[in-house]
Amino acid sequence: MEINIAETEQKEITSFFYRILIPRPIAWVSTKSKAGIDNLAPFSFYGGVSANPPIVSLGIGRRAGKHKDTSQNLIDTGECVIHLTSVELSEKMIKTSAELPPEDDEFEIAGLEKAKSTDVKPPRLRDARVALEGKLYRHLEVGNGPGDMLLVEIIRIHIDDGMLDERGRPDSSKLDTLARLGGRQYASLTEAWEIIRPD
Ligand SMILES: Cc1cc2nc3c(=O)[nH]c(=O)nc-3n(C[C@H](O)[C@H](O)[C@H](O)COP(=O)(O)O)c2cc1C
Repeated sequence: MEINIAETEQKEITSFFYRILIPRPIAWVSTKSKAGIDNLAPFSFYGGVSANPPIVSLGIGRRAGKHKDTSQNLIDTGECVIHLTSVELSEKMIKTSAELPPEDDEFEIAGLEKAKSTDVKPPRLRDARVALEGKLYRHLEVGNGPGDMLLVEIIRIHIDDGMLDERGRPDSSKLDTLARLGGRQYASLTEAWEIIRPD
């Protein structure tokens, strides 16, 4: 089977794309609005772009042509905290994906505790195993929506000491990372092995 994007209905392209681009990590992003209201939402169009300095991208669609709260807050204030989403917290993560008005604080709705961040105003999720404090690096409008691509420079990493291996590095077997597949499907990382690269 081949799919010519130019001749295919958008609904079908979206469905195929989401089911092929797997597994995706889930950025669980906290921001603070100009009015001072905290916001928390998950995004799986998320990936690393650079390590020096560390920069990640978030692909955020629009809702009825308007910025989602996360994009609006990031554009307005330039700050966020991106958390690793663990399998343990997946049910709470889903609650924070509800399409809520900007006045609602998803930390409260999902029963999640906040902790103070060090360099940015949005709070951290107290129970996240990893939290990345970040500042907006670039904002681009992308696609036909258009949607928003937000590049975020990571300026501080918080990691639970229990997540480190004997050499003090993050241990993938301890992080309990939740992976997003297509539709409503999710997965956990159950097996890891090494592949040696040629010289
Ligand atoms: C696991 C998961 C991943 C998601 N990934 C994205 C994404 O990459 N981009 C996007 O625009 N919406 C994504 N969503 C939907 C948003 O979380 C949802 O629109 C949310 O209400 C946005 O919240 P906000 O308006 O507070 O920013 C995702 C939802 C879930 C459950």
